[in-house]
Amino acid sequence: MTTQELPFIRVVREGPVAVITIDRQDKLNALNRQVLNNLASTFDALAHDDAPVRAAVLTGAGEKAFVAGADIGEMSTLTVEQAREFASLGHRILASIEALPFPVIAAVNGFALGGGCELALACDFIFAADNAKFSQPEVNLGVIPGFGGTQRLARRVGLGRARELIYTGDMITADEAVRIGLANRVVPKAELLNVARETAAKIATKAPLAVSAGKRAMLRGYDQDLSSANALEIVEFAGLFGSTDQTEGMMAFVEKRKAQFTGA
Ligand code: COA
Repeated sequence: MTTQELPFIRVVREGPVAVITIDRQDKLNALNRQVLNNLASTFDALAHDDAPVRAAVLTGAGEKAFVAGADIGEMSTLTVEQAREFASLGHRILASIEALPFPVIAAVNGFALGGGCELALACDFIFAADNAKFSQPEVNLGVIPGFGGTQRLARRVGLGRARELIYTGDMITADEAVRIGLANRVVPKAELLNVARETAAKIATKAPLAVSAGKRAMLRGYDQDLSSANALEIVEFAGLFGSTDQTEGMMAFVEKRKAQFTGA
């Protein structure tokens, strides 16, 4: 199966790496329902592609924005019940991206505001272009983050910093995002995609089941008490033994050669 391109979403496959671009440039890639649903369908198709994806990069089209937020026009007329449905949709989709069997790197190439920052937080980690700007500006609109920002931002940068960002709506630079642990590194804008692709390609050379198990253990363990989380690690670690790639990885070390992983 080849992943079909849906409106507002572009996909480029480079072997085991997929680069997904949200392309709604006239609205700075803002997330309306259609963009969210198409993004979810795209990731779902990639997760089931016959040519397996081992790592992905998510970015925004154009020069200015990763994603400038949830679509304010669409949100402006929501009733309480519709707002609950909209937030639930965003939560469902971001949780499904977060739980994909392969890592996703957010390549933040400009504004990552509101839902855009939340989407980047649902990715495994963030690389920021030197022009990137991050913010949870919802208090300026009379609301709060609704796609997980109050929870994932605090888990990423700590409660004190998340509180300051969410109460003030302040916009921070890429350097500041790295300083507080929101982004992993700042990259010159022209090099951002290449650096993200190279990192994804490097991940794609590692044992796929091991990368997935590491991702699962960190994601599921993070909110558990330490001993339960460590028990989860034991299960994931042991589950890899007997896999073809575990045998291959350890044999290759003993035989002083490069391992050839197959994902089995
Ligand atoms: N939802 C819907 N449309 C949005 C949007 C959003 N979150 N962010 C930007 N847009 C639209 C603008 O309305 C404008 O559309 P128009 O040309 O039809 O009027 C277009 O994208 C370009 O944005 P513009 O504001 O003209 O660009 P700018 O360079 O002057 O400002 C921003 C850029 C990001 C500072 C500004 O667009 C902004 O503040 N956006 C909203 C950010 C926000 O509050 N996001 C959180 C939402 S939860």
